[in-house]
Amino acid sequence: MGGSRVQRDAVDGGLPYPFRLEETMARYRHQIWPVLAVALMLVSLVLLSSCETPQNNFQPMSDAAEEIHAVYIIVTLAAAVVGVVVLGVMAYIMIRFRSRPGRAPSTSHGNTKLEIIWTVIPFFVLVLIGIPSVMGIVSAAEDPQDDAVRIRAIGHQWWWEFRYEGMGPDGQDLVTANEIRLPVGQQAYVTVESVDVIHSFWVPKLIGKLDAMPGKSQSLQPFIPKEVGTYYGVCAEYCGLAHALMRFRVVVEPLADFQAWVTHLQTPPATPAESAVLGEALFNGTCGRCHAVYGTVAEGTVGPNLTLFGERTTLGAGILENSDANLHAWISNIRDIKPVNEDDGGIKVMPSFDAVLSDDQISSIVAYLKGLKIDR
Ligand code: CUA
Repeated sequence: MGGSRVQRDAVDGGLPYPFRLEETMARYRHQIWPVLAVALMLVSLVLLSSCETPQNNFQPMSDAAEEIHAVYIIVTLAAAVVGVVVLGVMAYIMIRFRSRPGRAPSTSHGNTKLEIIWTVIPFFVLVLIGIPSVMGIVSAAEDPQDDAVRIRAIGHQWWWEFRYEGMGPDGQDLVTANEIRLPVGQQAYVTVESVDVIHSFWVPKLIGKLDAMPGKSQSLQPFIPKEVGTYYGVCAEYCGLAHALMRFRVVVEPLADFQAWVTHLQTPPATPAESAVLGEALFNGTCGRCHAVYGTVAEGTVGPNLTLFGERTTLGAGILENSDANLHAWISNIRDIKPVNEDDGGIKVMPSFDAVLSDDQISSIVAYLKGLKIDR
């Protein structure tokens, strides 16, 4: 047996066989660069992972996100220790008991004491991981507090509708799109739904993720945002052509600012500026079939509700800064900005208006929409 194996040494290009550490190192001693490249990549990965990024779940900014983060760190540390110990012992055994000239590699079969040890240790590791995980699952199912801000997040291809239950005029829902506002320090309770395909709601620094299922309503763990700021959210489930462009923001602000926003959302807009009078008429006659603005004749529900649109930081489901130029381009020809599936006639996306409206008319609509803001 042994004799026939040794003959395979002659095969060109393969590892020397039986494996001999000294020979292998001698053979590959000039090929240090691949090893260095991999080492460099790993070091960069570790260093870059500490960078500040908008969707970093290592920077929890709510109580619920902190709980998830704590479990994550415990599991990662336990896995790292297990990995280092197991691979370390393996490396030691492979080198210590390898074959050497004049000596066959050591073999061993069955060891009751070892087997008991490597059954008992994983048991305790799993208990260590299991306790905080189960505690996290239990607190994720907690009921919201009475004063929690309750929001229904409804996924559409490809934008988010947000409905604040009972906070609109006459006890209706207060409806907005692609941007949630929350008071800092007050609990929020988000229920996730979809009107078409499966989407997923995720704000890495605050909460999530949870799938938005058609025909089903699921609730996220209630969470309390801890700091004022703007937090990035994304759809985290592939949902078709513009999935990667289905983003949103969560604006966490002082309670007074939040209350002012709610009050103004319930109030019909003031008379528009002169440059926007034509825009208002055009919007109500054309855009209002799909979009709504509270207190006006625009009551469409197919597209995003645009009440207080001038207060939004972004447009186009969070993909563009809400500037005049971007809004003008968006209304003119959305197809330059967002992929549109024309197989179904492009019905899921707004028409391009540059063929039916003049530049000035579109500018006037822009002026009207940007003027929908809180008087300060
Ligand atoms: Cu919606 Cu991906």
